[in-house]
Amino acid sequence: MLIEFLDFLGSLHPLIVHLPIGIILLTIAIDVFMRNKNNSVQRVITMGWFFSFFSGLLAALFGWFLGDNGYYFESQINIHRWSGIAFVGLCFIIWLLRYINFRFSKSFNRSVNLTTILLLMVTGHFGGEMTHGQNYLFENLPYVQKKISLIPLSEAKRSETDSLFVYEDLVYPVLEEKCIACHNQNRAYGGLNMSALESMVKGGNSGAGIQNGKPFESLIYKRVSFPHDHPKFMPPSGVPLSYDQIVTLEWWIDNGAEKQMPVTLARNDPKIQRLMELQYGLDLREKTYLETLALASPTPEELKPIQGEEFIWRFLNPEQSFLDLKFTKKEIETNDLLKIQSIKKNITWLNLTDCMLNDNHLSYLIDFSNLTRLKIQKNPLVTNKGMEALQNLENLTELNLYGTRVSNAALNTLGQMESLKKLFLWNTRITAKAIADFKAQHPDIEVIAGF
Ligand code: HEC
Repeated sequence: MLIEFLDFLGSLHPLIVHLPIGIILLTIAIDVFMRNKNNSVQRVITMGWFFSFFSGLLAALFGWFLGDNGYYFESQINIHRWSGIAFVGLCFIIWLLRYINFRFSKSFNRSVNLTTILLLMVTGHFGGEMTHGQNYLFENLPYVQKKISLIPLSEAKRSETDSLFVYEDLVYPVLEEKCIACHNQNRAYGGLNMSALESMVKGGNSGAGIQNGKPFESLIYKRVSFPHDHPKFMPPSGVPLSYDQIVTLEWWIDNGAEKQMPVTLARNDPKIQRLMELQYGLDLREKTYLETLALASPTPEELKPIQGEEFIWRFLNPEQSFLDLKFTKKEIETNDLLKIQSIKKNITWLNLTDCMLNDNHLSYLIDFSNLTRLKIQKNPLVTNKGMEALQNLENLTELNLYGTRVSNAALNTLGQMESLKKLFLWNTRITAKAIADFKAQHPDIEVIAGF
């Protein structure tokens, strides 16, 4: 009963504090701006100091009850509390001195007024920070940039999305900033210790903190998503969780609240993926093989062999590490293929169309490990045997065999190439039936056969 009454008085603090602020400002204004102060004016000023003291005392007393409920951070409370008390004490002393008709010198009077206003500003500022959060004063100024996300994700982490975890990298930092000062081993309000996942799941006096898979039944989630003026809203003071932080928490609990849940799981849910990309600056698109590959650009020396007119080439990327190379002559020789061996890691697209290429030539491509697209159409000397040389090109996604003499048996080899996505088989010796079977077995490979 008593505790509830004190809590009620505590809740009056934010209302009462404005009285001493108003009264003292008016009192000082009269003192400063009224030139000829007769006795009545002097008495009004003395009364002003008294009422500032008295209303300040009430505010401080109620504030003390409010600060005791555990809803505020000790570090912030302390400055606010003691500067508030100093303000009340100063008002009392000045009132007393004026009451016994102590004569103030001009400079003494000026410093008293100044000190009082300074104390008022310090007290008011730290009080404001407790209710509205740090930075409340400047955050709405137009030229102050608002942070997009309150979660500090380093640049390094942001680029390593594959190794980010939802709990460790997105959820915990928020809890650490906004909850753990009041919910840790030493100080666990409500019996709740959130400094470790296990104790947070276990919960406090009211039971489990998290119900796996059920965000709306989890106390932790419920408390942060109440309306802000709800008495059980958390955090009770300071900046509430932002919308995206609450959605992230919900998504994490919804998916089992696992410690090891990877951020890349967002790929299953376009809405969450979008939120991750927008709010946390994460790029969650699946990377192609080439995007993950950091390859040095070839030296001028290495490029020399392809400067002749038998080759046309260009770089495929701004970093100048991937090459698109085309052989232009009507008849290729072993020597031409030897020339490109020194840059074989850089060749990603290779075009050897219509140049009398044979199976033996293909054996020179055996370790072109970054080759993703190979065109060898219109080479009637290429047969099944040549396919064996290509079998180990583990990044080859596109292969054009149009107008070669491969037959049904080649499909066995081609079917084992792991990255293959697109295959041109028009005008070969492969039968329509064999292609139909192949398509059924490899639905992820697109076959262009011309019939
Ligand atoms: C300034 C201190 C403070 C901060 C910060 C704070 N809490 Fe609390 N919390 C309390 C106090 C005091 C209680 C006990 C009274 C109550 O239940 O409201 C409590 C109780 C709770 C309870 C109920 C525990 C139980 O089992 O009864 C939950 C859940 C909770 N807080 C979650 C949070 C979350 C989540 C955050 C961060 C977003 C947070 N709190 C931040 C002070 C704080």
